[in-house]
Amino acid sequence: MELTHRPRRLRTCPEVRSLCRETRLSPDSLIYPIFVDETLQGTRPIPSLPGQFHYGLDSVCQAVEECLAHGVTKCILFGLPARKDEIGSSAWDDNGVVQQAIRTIKETYPHFYVIADVCMCEYTSHGHCGILCGEHVDNDATLPRLVDITLSYARAGVDMVAPSDMMDGRIGAMRRALDEAGFVNLPIMAYSAKYASSFYGPFRDAAGSAPSFGDRKGYQMDPHNAREALRECALDVEEGADILMVKPALSYLDVLYRCKEAFNLPMCAYSVSGEYAMIKAAAAAGLVDEYKMMCESALSIYRAGADMLITYSAKELADAMKRGDIG
Ligand code: PBG
Repeated sequence: MELTHRPRRLRTCPEVRSLCRETRLSPDSLIYPIFVDETLQGTRPIPSLPGQFHYGLDSVCQAVEECLAHGVTKCILFGLPARKDEIGSSAWDDNGVVQQAIRTIKETYPHFYVIADVCMCEYTSHGHCGILCGEHVDNDATLPRLVDITLSYARAGVDMVAPSDMMDGRIGAMRRALDEAGFVNLPIMAYSAKYASSFYGPFRDAAGSAPSFGDRKGYQMDPHNAREALRECALDVEEGADILMVKPALSYLDVLYRCKEAFNLPMCAYSVSGEYAMIKAAAAAGLVDEYKMMCESALSIYRAGADMLITYSAKELADAMKRGDIG
């Protein structure tokens, strides 16, 4: 048969396949989540996330060394504070768990890039992401507290802040406060399209941040909506976001693709705890090839438009990229 174009011609050997890859990945684009527990000494396995650990402040540098050993050079910090209260006040304590972790890491590894998640759910006794008014989160009362947290992280020396609370107007409030305080070069990565997702289950166990009543549907996005994500992103762009994020990743690749097409900013995707746990559980049951499935899922997220990826598999993915299995 006479064919003018044979796509298979470019699949005939590994060399031509690697030459023609449309998606190029690098360990530089990986961000590893680190959970720091103020009450812990050493490390403790996280039951809901097989292979992941809580780190005490005395061992947070161990987490960094493990990253560096695999070529992962960036992390995002989550804190488990020793005490919680109604307003989450330990979140903006200059001696809080994340602030201490930032200082410790930056003193020992000044070139390791430290992002801090800005939210209140790990710090409030009720587990919601803001200040409550009755049973609802009061958006505007929460903004000054998010600003306090942001400035406190900035003073501790963080490299980037990533607000995950989903309050309206937070990016603008944080940008203004950072600029006024002289942190004009500190970037904000906005969790712009963060959905009210069941895929956060294992994280909430790990971070002790499950809401004690109700759910987060009043502030996180409805999974039925994709165009709404464009409105959320547009607001964050207008308010001064430097990087936009879609979260979760795998069930929201359409949203990621649309946001990437619509906005001229770097896109981050967060491959969340449930995505990780799902592969781990299926592999533990002997149902799938864990390594290949991890690689293919991450690849699909990049192909959909992610410029960077927050993932619990960052170290293993960095190895896969170096081996050439992906990337
Ligand atoms: C804090 C926050 C959450 C995640 C990241 N930041 C939990 C939530 O919104 O309930 C989830 C991450 C994951 O599931 O891996 N608001």
